[in-house]
Amino acid sequence: MADSKPNTKGLYIKTYGCQMNVYDSERMKDVLKPLGYAPVDSPEAADLVVLNTCHIREKATEKVFSELGRLREMKQEAGGTLRIAVAGCVAQAEGDEIMRREPAVDMVVGPQSYHRLPEMIAKLARKTGDILETDFAAEEKFDALPKTREIDGASAFLSIQEGCDKFCTFCVVPYTRGAEFSRNTDAIVAEARELARQGVREIVLLGQNVNAWHGAAPAHDVRGGEWGLGALIRHIAQIGGVERIRYTTSHPRDMADDLIDAHRDVEQLAPFMHLPVQHGSDRILKAMNRQHTASEYLRIIERVRAARTDIAFASDFIVGFPGESDVDFEATLQLVRGVGFAQAYSFKYSPRPGTPAAGMQLQVEEHVKDERLARLQALLNEQAQAFNDATIGRKVDVLFSRAGRRAGQALGYSPYMQSVHVDGGAHLTGCMALIEIVGATMTSLKGRLVTATAEVMA
Ligand code: SAH
Ligand code: SF4
Ligand code: F3S
Repeated sequence: MADSKPNTKGLYIKTYGCQMNVYDSERMKDVLKPLGYAPVDSPEAADLVVLNTCHIREKATEKVFSELGRLREMKQEAGGTLRIAVAGCVAQAEGDEIMRREPAVDMVVGPQSYHRLPEMIAKLARKTGDILETDFAAEEKFDALPKTREIDGASAFLSIQEGCDKFCTFCVVPYTRGAEFSRNTDAIVAEARELARQGVREIVLLGQNVNAWHGAAPAHDVRGGEWGLGALIRHIAQIGGVERIRYTTSHPRDMADDLIDAHRDVEQLAPFMHLPVQHGSDRILKAMNRQHTASEYLRIIERVRAARTDIAFASDFIVGFPGESDVDFEATLQLVRGVGFAQAYSFKYSPRPGTPAAGMQLQVEEHVKDERLARLQALLNEQAQAFNDATIGRKVDVLFSRAGRRAGQALGYSPYMQSVHVDGGAHLTGCMALIEIVGATMTSLKGRLVTATAEVMA
Protein backbone atom coordinates (compact mmCIF):
# COMPACT_ATOMS: atom_id res chain seq x y z
CA MET A 1 0.00 0.00 0.00
CA ALA A 2 0.98 3.63 -0.55
CA ASP A 3 2.29 4.32 2.94
CA SER A 4 4.33 1.19 3.46
CA LYS A 5 7.94 0.94 2.30
CA PRO A 6 8.87 -1.48 -0.48
CA ASN A 7 9.46 -5.01 0.90
CA THR A 8 7.83 -4.17 4.22
CA LYS A 9 4.18 -4.57 4.96
CA GLY A 10 2.23 -2.39 7.33
CA LEU A 11 0.81 -4.00 10.47
CA TYR A 12 -1.81 -2.33 12.63
CA ILE A 13 -2.90 -4.07 15.83
CA LYS A 14 -5.75 -2.69 17.88
CA THR A 15 -5.82 -4.06 21.40
CA TYR A 16 -8.87 -4.37 23.65
CA GLY A 17 -9.17 -5.83 27.15
CA CYS A 18 -6.58 -6.69 29.75
CA GLN A 19 -2.78 -6.57 29.98
CA MET A 20 -2.58 -10.17 28.79
CA ASN A 21 -3.89 -8.94 25.46
CA VAL A 22 -1.36 -6.09 25.46
CA TYR A 23 1.41 -8.65 25.92
CA ASP A 24 -0.06 -10.87 23.18
CA SER A 25 -0.23 -7.93 20.76
CA GLU A 26 3.45 -7.19 21.35
CA ARG A 27 4.30 -10.83 20.74
CA MET A 28 2.21 -10.90 17.53
CA LYS A 29 4.44 -8.09 16.27
CA ASP A 30 7.49 -10.24 17.11
CA VAL A 31 5.94 -13.24 15.32
CA LEU A 32 5.13 -11.24 12.18
CA LYS A 33 8.39 -9.30 11.97
CA PRO A 34 10.30 -12.02 10.05
CA LEU A 35 7.56 -11.90 7.39
CA GLY A 36 8.35 -8.23 6.78
CA TYR A 37 5.51 -6.74 8.81
CA ALA A 38 6.34 -3.48 10.57
CA PRO A 39 3.95 -1.56 12.84
CA VAL A 40 2.16 1.47 11.33
CA ASP A 41 0.15 4.17 13.10
CA SER A 42 -3.23 3.75 11.40
CA PRO A 43 -5.32 1.02 9.78
CA GLU A 44 -5.29 3.08 6.55
CA ALA A 45 -1.51 2.58 6.28
CA ALA A 46 -1.74 -1.15 6.99
CA ASP A 47 -1.67 -4.27 4.83
CA LEU A 48 -2.78 -6.34 7.80
CA VAL A 49 -5.08 -5.18 10.60
CA VAL A 50 -5.39 -7.37 13.70
CA LEU A 51 -8.13 -6.73 16.23
CA ASN A 52 -7.01 -8.32 19.49
CA THR A 53 -10.36 -8.61 21.19
CA CYS A 54 -11.90 -8.90 24.66
CA HIS A 55 -15.06 -10.84 25.53
CA ILE A 56 -15.35 -9.99 29.22
CA ARG A 57 -18.44 -7.75 29.03
CA GLU A 58 -21.08 -7.33 26.37
CA LYS A 59 -19.94 -3.83 25.44
CA ALA A 60 -16.40 -5.07 24.80
CA THR A 61 -17.74 -7.56 22.23
CA GLU A 62 -20.06 -5.03 20.55
CA LYS A 63 -17.12 -2.72 19.96
CA VAL A 64 -15.41 -5.42 17.91
CA PHE A 65 -18.33 -5.89 15.55
CA SER A 66 -18.69 -2.15 14.99
CA GLU A 67 -14.95 -1.81 14.34
CA LEU A 68 -15.19 -4.69 11.86
CA GLY A 69 -17.93 -2.81 10.00
CA ARG A 70 -15.57 0.16 9.56
CA LEU A 71 -12.72 -2.08 8.45
CA ARG A 72 -14.98 -3.78 5.88
CA GLU A 73 -15.56 -0.41 4.19
CA MET A 74 -11.86 0.36 4.32
CA LYS A 75 -11.11 -2.99 2.73
CA GLN A 76 -13.60 -2.34 -0.09
CA GLU A 77 -12.02 1.07 -0.73
CA ALA A 78 -8.56 -0.52 -0.82
CA GLY A 79 -9.80 -2.89 -3.54
CA GLY A 80 -9.80 -5.89 -1.20
CA THR A 81 -6.04 -5.98 -0.59
CA LEU A 82 -6.27 -5.26 3.14
CA ARG A 83 -6.11 -8.39 5.29
CA ILE A 84 -8.19 -8.48 8.47
CA ALA A 85 -7.54 -10.83 11.38
CA VAL A 86 -9.56 -11.17 14.57
CA ALA A 87 -7.53 -12.42 17.54
CA GLY A 88 -8.09 -12.66 21.29
CA CYS A 89 -11.01 -13.73 23.41
CA VAL A 90 -13.92 -12.91 21.05
CA ALA A 91 -12.09 -14.90 18.37
CA GLN A 92 -11.90 -17.84 20.76
CA ALA A 93 -15.51 -17.63 21.90
CA GLU A 94 -17.23 -16.64 18.66
CA GLY A 95 -14.82 -17.58 15.89
CA ASP A 96 -17.38 -19.33 13.69
CA GLU A 97 -19.92 -16.58 14.21
CA ILE A 98 -17.37 -13.91 13.19
CA MET A 99 -16.51 -15.80 10.02
CA ARG A 100 -20.21 -16.08 9.19
CA ARG A 101 -21.28 -12.56 10.12
CA GLU A 102 -18.31 -10.69 8.70
CA PRO A 103 -16.99 -12.09 5.40
CA ALA A 104 -14.39 -9.30 5.28
CA VAL A 105 -12.53 -11.15 8.05
CA ASP A 106 -9.70 -13.25 6.58
CA MET A 107 -8.40 -14.98 9.69
CA VAL A 108 -9.59 -15.82 13.18
CA VAL A 109 -6.98 -16.74 15.75
CA GLY A 110 -7.48 -17.54 19.45
CA PRO A 111 -5.21 -16.34 22.28
CA GLN A 112 -3.26 -19.62 22.42
CA SER A 113 -2.73 -19.92 18.65
CA TYR A 114 -1.30 -16.61 17.45
CA HIS A 115 2.16 -18.11 16.96
CA ARG A 116 0.56 -19.78 13.92
CA LEU A 117 -0.17 -16.46 12.19
CA PRO A 118 2.68 -16.89 9.67
CA GLU A 119 1.26 -20.27 8.58
CA MET A 120 -2.22 -18.80 8.39
CA ILE A 121 -1.03 -15.91 6.24
CA ALA A 122 0.68 -18.38 3.90
CA LYS A 123 -2.51 -20.44 3.64
CA LEU A 124 -4.44 -17.30 2.91
CA ALA A 125 -2.06 -16.43 0.07
CA ARG A 126 -2.49 -19.95 -1.37
CA LYS A 127 -6.24 -19.75 -0.74
CA THR A 128 -6.12 -23.19 0.88
CA GLY A 129 -6.90 -24.69 4.21
CA ASP A 130 -8.29 -23.59 7.47
CA ILE A 131 -7.87 -20.02 8.58
CA LEU A 132 -9.56 -20.40 11.92
CA GLU A 133 -7.17 -21.44 14.69
CA THR A 134 -8.59 -21.72 18.18
CA ASP A 135 -6.59 -24.52 19.81
CA PHE A 136 -5.78 -24.34 23.51
CA ALA A 137 -2.09 -25.34 23.55
CA ALA A 138 -0.57 -22.54 25.65
CA GLU A 139 2.67 -24.47 26.11
CA GLU A 140 3.20 -24.88 22.39
CA LYS A 141 2.61 -21.16 21.89
CA PHE A 142 5.21 -20.03 24.40
CA ASP A 143 7.76 -22.50 23.00
CA ALA A 144 7.14 -21.22 19.48
CA LEU A 145 7.39 -17.49 20.21
CA PRO A 146 10.61 -15.71 19.17
CA LYS A 147 13.15 -15.51 22.01
CA THR A 148 13.95 -11.88 21.27
CA ARG A 149 11.44 -9.15 21.88
CA GLU A 150 10.96 -5.73 20.36
CA ILE A 151 10.87 -3.44 23.40
CA ASP A 152 9.34 0.00 23.60
CA GLY A 153 10.05 1.78 26.88
CA ALA A 154 11.52 1.03 30.30
CA SER A 155 8.65 -1.12 31.52
CA ALA A 156 7.60 -4.42 29.98
CA PHE A 157 4.93 -7.05 30.50
CA LEU A 158 5.94 -10.66 30.89
CA SER A 159 3.18 -13.31 30.79
CA ILE A 160 3.97 -16.15 33.20
CA GLN A 161 0.58 -17.76 33.68
CA GLU A 162 -2.47 -18.11 31.49
CA GLY A 163 -5.98 -19.37 31.73
CA CYS A 164 -8.18 -20.09 34.69
CA ASP A 165 -9.81 -23.08 36.37
CA LYS A 166 -11.72 -21.11 38.97
CA PHE A 167 -14.96 -20.73 37.03
CA CYS A 168 -16.45 -17.70 38.76
CA THR A 169 -20.05 -17.95 37.62
CA PHE A 170 -20.02 -14.56 35.84
CA CYS A 171 -16.77 -14.95 33.92
CA VAL A 172 -15.86 -16.06 30.38
CA VAL A 173 -12.11 -16.30 30.91
CA PRO A 174 -11.98 -20.06 31.65
CA TYR A 175 -13.75 -20.59 28.30
CA THR A 176 -11.73 -18.10 26.24
CA ARG A 177 -8.26 -18.68 27.67
CA GLY A 178 -8.52 -22.32 28.63
CA ALA A 179 -7.23 -24.18 31.68
CA GLU A 180 -4.77 -22.72 34.13
CA PHE A 181 -1.24 -23.01 32.78
CA SER A 182 2.08 -21.95 34.31
CA ARG A 183 4.99 -21.19 32.00
CA ASN A 184 8.26 -22.97 32.56
CA THR A 185 10.56 -21.28 35.13
CA ASP A 186 13.69 -21.23 32.95
CA ALA A 187 11.79 -19.76 30.00
CA ILE A 188 10.42 -16.97 32.20
CA VAL A 189 13.83 -16.19 33.67
CA ALA A 190 15.40 -16.18 30.19
CA GLU A 191 12.75 -13.74 28.97
CA ALA A 192 13.27 -11.52 32.05
CA ARG A 193 17.04 -11.46 31.37
CA GLU A 194 16.42 -10.58 27.74
CA LEU A 195 14.21 -7.68 28.84
CA ALA A 196 16.83 -6.43 31.31
CA ARG A 197 19.52 -6.73 28.64
CA GLN A 198 17.46 -4.42 26.45
CA GLY A 199 17.30 -1.79 29.20
CA VAL A 200 13.92 -2.63 30.73
CA ARG A 201 13.86 -1.49 34.36
CA GLU A 202 10.42 -2.61 35.40
CA ILE A 203 9.01 -6.07 34.74
CA VAL A 204 5.30 -6.63 35.20
CA LEU A 205 4.55 -10.33 35.62
CA LEU A 206 1.18 -11.16 34.14
CA GLY A 207 -1.43 -13.85 34.53
CA GLN A 208 -5.19 -14.23 34.75
CA ASN A 209 -4.38 -15.59 38.21
CA VAL A 210 -0.75 -14.65 38.36
CA ASN A 211 -0.25 -15.81 41.93
CA ALA A 212 -1.41 -19.32 40.98
CA TRP A 213 1.87 -19.57 39.04
CA HIS A 214 4.07 -22.49 40.10
CA GLY A 215 7.01 -24.15 38.44
CA ALA A 216 9.95 -26.49 38.95
CA ALA A 217 12.88 -24.83 40.70
CA PRO A 218 15.73 -24.24 38.23
CA ALA A 219 18.77 -26.54 38.38
CA HIS A 220 20.89 -24.03 40.35
CA ASP A 221 18.46 -24.13 43.29
CA VAL A 222 19.92 -26.95 45.38
CA ARG A 223 16.74 -27.17 47.45
CA GLY A 224 14.91 -28.21 44.28
CA GLY A 225 11.17 -28.75 44.45
CA GLU A 226 8.53 -26.31 43.32
CA TRP A 227 8.63 -22.56 43.20
CA GLY A 228 5.67 -20.28 43.75
CA LEU A 229 5.41 -16.66 42.66
CA GLY A 230 7.28 -15.43 45.76
CA ALA A 231 10.39 -17.48 44.86
CA LEU A 232 10.19 -16.40 41.22
CA ILE A 233 10.05 -12.73 42.25
CA ARG A 234 13.05 -13.15 44.56
CA HIS A 235 14.98 -14.66 41.64
CA ILE A 236 14.02 -12.03 39.07
CA ALA A 237 14.98 -9.31 41.58
CA GLN A 238 18.57 -10.56 41.31
CA ILE A 239 18.79 -9.92 37.57
CA GLY A 240 21.00 -6.85 37.08
CA GLY A 241 19.08 -3.78 35.94
CA VAL A 242 15.67 -4.86 37.24
CA GLU A 243 14.70 -1.95 39.49
CA ARG A 244 11.02 -2.63 39.94
CA ILE A 245 8.79 -5.70 39.81
CA ARG A 246 5.01 -5.82 39.76
CA TYR A 247 2.55 -8.64 39.24
CA THR A 248 -1.08 -8.68 38.22
CA THR A 249 -3.83 -9.94 38.61
CA SER A 250 -3.97 -11.93 41.82
CA HIS A 251 -6.68 -14.09 43.24
CA PRO A 252 -7.30 -14.03 47.02
CA ARG A 253 -7.27 -17.83 47.15
CA ASP A 254 -3.70 -18.03 45.87
CA MET A 255 -2.13 -15.52 48.24
CA ALA A 256 0.63 -17.79 49.62
CA ASP A 257 2.68 -16.87 52.72
CA ASP A 258 5.89 -16.78 50.72
CA LEU A 259 4.44 -14.23 48.32
CA ILE A 260 3.30 -12.08 51.22
CA ASP A 261 6.80 -12.39 52.75
CA ALA A 262 8.33 -11.30 49.44
CA HIS A 263 6.59 -7.94 49.96
CA ARG A 264 8.59 -7.60 53.16
CA ASP A 265 11.91 -8.89 51.77
CA VAL A 266 12.24 -7.81 48.15
CA GLU A 267 13.13 -4.17 47.80
CA GLN A 268 12.25 -3.98 44.10
CA LEU A 269 8.77 -5.44 44.59
CA ALA A 270 6.42 -2.47 44.26
CA PRO A 271 4.20 -1.77 47.30
CA PHE A 272 1.03 -2.11 45.27
CA MET A 273 -1.31 -5.04 44.92
CA HIS A 274 -4.26 -5.51 42.60
CA LEU A 275 -6.39 -8.04 44.45
CA PRO A 276 -9.93 -8.26 43.08
CA VAL A 277 -12.64 -9.09 45.60
CA GLN A 278 -15.70 -8.48 43.35
CA HIS A 279 -18.17 -8.18 46.23
CA GLY A 280 -18.58 -7.61 49.97
CA SER A 281 -21.51 -9.96 50.64
CA ASP A 282 -20.76 -13.60 51.45
CA ARG A 283 -24.05 -14.69 49.91
CA ILE A 284 -23.12 -13.11 46.60
CA LEU A 285 -19.49 -14.24 46.80
CA LYS A 286 -20.82 -17.78 47.16
CA ALA A 287 -23.17 -17.39 44.19
CA MET A 288 -20.22 -16.03 42.23
CA ASN A 289 -18.20 -19.13 43.19
CA ARG A 290 -15.33 -16.95 44.40
CA GLN A 291 -14.49 -19.54 47.07
CA HIS A 292 -13.65 -17.00 49.73
CA THR A 293 -15.63 -14.84 52.15
CA ALA A 294 -15.38 -11.10 52.75
CA SER A 295 -13.65 -11.63 56.09
CA GLU A 296 -11.10 -14.01 54.52
CA TYR A 297 -10.31 -11.27 52.03
CA LEU A 298 -9.93 -8.69 54.82
CA ARG A 299 -7.64 -11.06 56.69
CA ILE A 300 -5.34 -11.29 53.64
CA ILE A 301 -5.23 -7.51 53.42
CA GLU A 302 -4.22 -7.40 57.08
CA ARG A 303 -1.46 -9.96 56.60
CA VAL A 304 -0.05 -8.14 53.58
CA ARG A 305 -0.15 -4.82 55.44
CA ALA A 306 1.71 -6.42 58.34
CA ALA A 307 4.47 -7.46 55.90
CA ARG A 308 4.65 -4.12 54.11
CA THR A 309 2.98 -1.24 55.96
CA ASP A 310 2.89 1.26 53.07
CA ILE A 311 1.31 -1.13 50.54
CA ALA A 312 -1.57 0.22 48.47
CA PHE A 313 -4.44 -1.93 47.23
CA ALA A 314 -6.53 -1.94 44.10
CA SER A 315 -9.52 -4.12 43.41
CA ASP A 316 -12.30 -5.02 40.98
CA PHE A 317 -15.99 -4.88 41.86
CA ILE A 318 -19.17 -6.05 40.21
CA VAL A 319 -22.53 -4.48 41.05
CA GLY A 320 -25.89 -5.96 40.12
CA PHE A 321 -24.92 -9.64 40.16
CA PRO A 322 -28.15 -11.73 39.99
CA GLY A 323 -29.96 -11.70 43.33
CA GLU A 324 -27.99 -8.76 44.76
CA SER A 325 -30.21 -7.00 47.31
CA ASP A 326 -29.76 -3.55 48.87
CA VAL A 327 -28.31 -5.27 51.92
CA ASP A 328 -25.78 -7.18 49.78
CA PHE A 329 -24.78 -4.00 48.01
CA GLU A 330 -24.30 -2.21 51.35
CA ALA A 331 -21.88 -4.99 52.31
CA THR A 332 -19.73 -4.05 49.29
CA LEU A 333 -19.69 -0.40 50.39
CA GLN A 334 -18.81 -1.56 53.91
CA LEU A 335 -15.88 -3.63 52.66
CA VAL A 336 -14.60 -0.70 50.59
CA ARG A 337 -14.80 1.61 53.62
CA GLY A 338 -12.95 -0.97 55.70
CA VAL A 339 -10.02 -1.39 53.29
CA GLY A 340 -9.50 2.03 51.71
CA PHE A 341 -8.45 1.39 48.10
CA ALA A 342 -5.92 3.43 46.16
CA GLN A 343 -7.52 2.46 42.84
CA ALA A 344 -10.40 0.32 41.68
CA TYR A 345 -12.30 -0.90 38.65
CA SER A 346 -16.03 -1.30 39.05
CA PHE A 347 -18.44 -2.79 36.59
CA LYS A 348 -22.13 -3.43 36.14
CA TYR A 349 -22.73 -7.16 35.93
CA SER A 350 -22.95 -8.16 32.28
CA PRO A 351 -24.55 -11.56 31.51
CA ARG A 352 -22.18 -13.54 29.30
CA PRO A 353 -23.30 -16.37 27.02
CA GLY A 354 -22.49 -19.81 28.38
CA THR A 355 -21.74 -18.70 31.95
CA PRO A 356 -23.89 -20.02 34.85
CA ALA A 357 -24.82 -16.56 36.20
CA ALA A 358 -26.38 -15.54 32.88
CA GLY A 359 -29.13 -18.11 33.47
CA MET A 360 -29.74 -17.26 37.12
CA GLN A 361 -33.09 -16.02 38.38
CA LEU A 362 -33.49 -12.51 39.77
CA GLN A 363 -31.39 -10.58 37.28
CA VAL A 364 -31.04 -7.02 38.60
CA GLU A 365 -32.72 -4.24 36.64
CA GLU A 366 -30.50 -1.92 34.66
CA HIS A 367 -31.51 1.26 36.50
CA VAL A 368 -30.71 -0.39 39.85
CA LYS A 369 -27.28 -1.40 38.52
CA ASP A 370 -26.73 2.18 37.33
CA GLU A 371 -27.64 3.64 40.68
CA ARG A 372 -25.45 1.20 42.64
CA LEU A 373 -22.51 1.68 40.32
CA ALA A 374 -22.73 5.45 40.75
CA ARG A 375 -22.77 5.12 44.55
CA LEU A 376 -19.87 2.68 44.59
CA GLN A 377 -17.82 4.77 42.20
CA ALA A 378 -18.42 7.93 44.25
CA LEU A 379 -16.95 6.16 47.28
CA LEU A 380 -14.03 4.66 45.34
CA ASN A 381 -13.28 8.03 43.73
CA GLU A 382 -13.25 9.66 47.12
CA GLN A 383 -10.73 7.07 48.31
CA ALA A 384 -8.55 7.45 45.20
CA GLN A 385 -8.50 11.22 45.67
CA ALA A 386 -7.65 10.88 49.38
CA PHE A 387 -4.87 8.41 48.59
CA ASN A 388 -3.37 10.72 45.97
CA ASP A 389 -3.74 13.80 48.16
CA ALA A 390 -1.80 12.04 50.90
CA THR A 391 1.20 11.83 48.53
CA ILE A 392 1.49 15.63 48.17
CA GLY A 393 4.73 16.84 49.71
CA ARG A 394 6.29 13.34 49.61
CA LYS A 395 9.29 12.35 47.51
CA VAL A 396 8.83 9.12 45.56
CA ASP A 397 10.79 7.14 42.98
CA VAL A 398 9.09 7.50 39.63
CA LEU A 399 9.90 5.30 36.66
CA PHE A 400 9.46 7.34 33.50
CA SER A 401 8.66 4.56 31.11
CA ARG A 402 7.40 6.55 28.10
CA ALA A 403 7.14 10.14 26.85
CA GLY A 404 4.12 12.13 28.09
CA ARG A 405 1.36 13.28 25.77
CA ARG A 406 2.17 16.96 25.95
CA ALA A 407 5.42 18.32 24.51
CA GLY A 408 8.25 18.38 27.04
CA GLN A 409 6.26 16.41 29.59
CA ALA A 410 7.50 13.17 31.15
CA LEU A 411 5.03 10.55 32.29
CA GLY A 412 5.84 7.83 34.78
CA TYR A 413 4.54 5.73 37.63
CA SER A 414 5.10 5.99 41.37
CA PRO A 415 5.74 2.79 43.37
CA TYR A 416 2.02 2.89 44.23
CA MET A 417 1.02 2.81 40.56
CA GLN A 418 -0.04 6.46 40.48
CA SER A 419 0.66 8.16 37.18
CA VAL A 420 2.97 11.14 37.68
CA HIS A 421 3.68 13.87 35.16
CA VAL A 422 6.56 16.30 35.26
CA ASP A 423 6.60 19.34 32.99
CA GLY A 424 9.92 20.02 31.28
CA GLY A 425 11.10 16.50 32.13
CA ALA A 426 11.21 14.91 28.68
CA HIS A 427 14.88 13.96 29.27
CA LEU A 428 13.75 11.70 32.11
CA THR A 429 12.10 9.17 29.78
CA GLY A 430 13.63 5.75 30.41
CA CYS A 431 14.93 6.45 33.90
CA MET A 432 13.94 6.27 37.52
CA ALA A 433 14.04 9.61 39.32
CA LEU A 434 13.19 10.98 42.74
CA ILE A 435 10.21 13.26 42.35
CA GLU A 436 8.51 15.54 44.82
CA ILE A 437 4.75 15.40 44.48
CA VAL A 438 3.27 18.89 44.26
CA GLY A 439 -0.30 18.29 43.10
CA ALA A 440 -2.92 15.55 42.86
CA THR A 441 -6.13 14.76 41.04
CA MET A 442 -8.16 11.59 41.38
CA THR A 443 -6.23 9.89 38.57
CA SER A 444 -2.77 11.46 38.48
CA LEU A 445 -0.07 13.37 40.31
CA LYS A 446 2.01 16.37 39.34
CA GLY A 447 5.67 16.20 40.30
CA ARG A 448 8.89 18.18 40.43
CA LEU A 449 12.32 16.66 39.85
CA VAL A 450 14.50 16.27 42.95
CA THR A 451 17.36 14.09 41.62
CA ALA A 452 17.79 11.55 38.87
CA THR A 453 18.86 8.30 40.52
CA ALA A 454 19.77 6.59 37.30
CA GLU A 455 21.29 7.66 34.05
CA VAL A 456 19.09 8.44 31.11
CA MET A 457 18.96 5.49 28.73
CA ALA A 458 20.82 5.80 25.49
N1 SAH B 1 -8.73 -13.04 37.09
C1 SAH B 1 -9.15 -11.85 37.66
C2 SAH B 1 -10.07 -11.00 36.81
C3 SAH B 1 -10.23 -11.20 35.34
S1 SAH B 1 -11.54 -10.37 34.53
C4 SAH B 1 -9.84 -12.19 38.95
O1 SAH B 1 -10.18 -13.31 39.23
O2 SAH B 1 -10.10 -11.33 39.74
C5 SAH B 1 -11.38 -8.68 35.03
C6 SAH B 1 -12.55 -8.15 35.78
O3 SAH B 1 -13.68 -8.05 34.95
C7 SAH B 1 -13.02 -9.02 36.92
O4 SAH B 1 -12.24 -8.86 38.06
C8 SAH B 1 -14.45 -8.60 37.11
O5 SAH B 1 -14.55 -7.56 38.04
C9 SAH B 1 -14.85 -8.09 35.73
N2 SAH B 1 -15.80 -9.00 35.10
C10 SAH B 1 -15.59 -10.27 34.68
N3 SAH B 1 -16.72 -10.80 34.17
C11 SAH B 1 -17.68 -9.84 34.26
C12 SAH B 1 -19.05 -9.78 33.92
N4 SAH B 1 -19.68 -10.83 33.38
N5 SAH B 1 -19.72 -8.62 34.15
C13 SAH B 1 -19.10 -7.57 34.71
N6 SAH B 1 -17.81 -7.57 35.06
C14 SAH B 1 -17.09 -8.69 34.85
FE1 SF4 C 1 -12.64 -15.06 35.79
FE2 SF4 C 1 -12.83 -15.87 38.28
FE3 SF4 C 1 -10.97 -16.90 36.72
FE4 SF4 C 1 -10.77 -14.37 37.55
S1 SF4 C 1 -10.73 -16.21 38.84
S2 SF4 C 1 -10.42 -15.12 35.47
S3 SF4 C 1 -12.89 -13.71 37.57
S4 SF4 C 1 -13.15 -17.15 36.48
FE1 F3S D 1 -10.84 -9.70 28.04
FE2 F3S D 1 -9.77 -12.00 27.44
FE3 F3S D 1 -8.49 -10.31 29.02
S1 F3S D 1 -11.89 -11.63 27.86
S2 F3S D 1 -10.14 -9.24 30.05
S3 F3S D 1 -8.98 -9.98 26.89
S4 F3S D 1 -8.53 -12.52 29.19
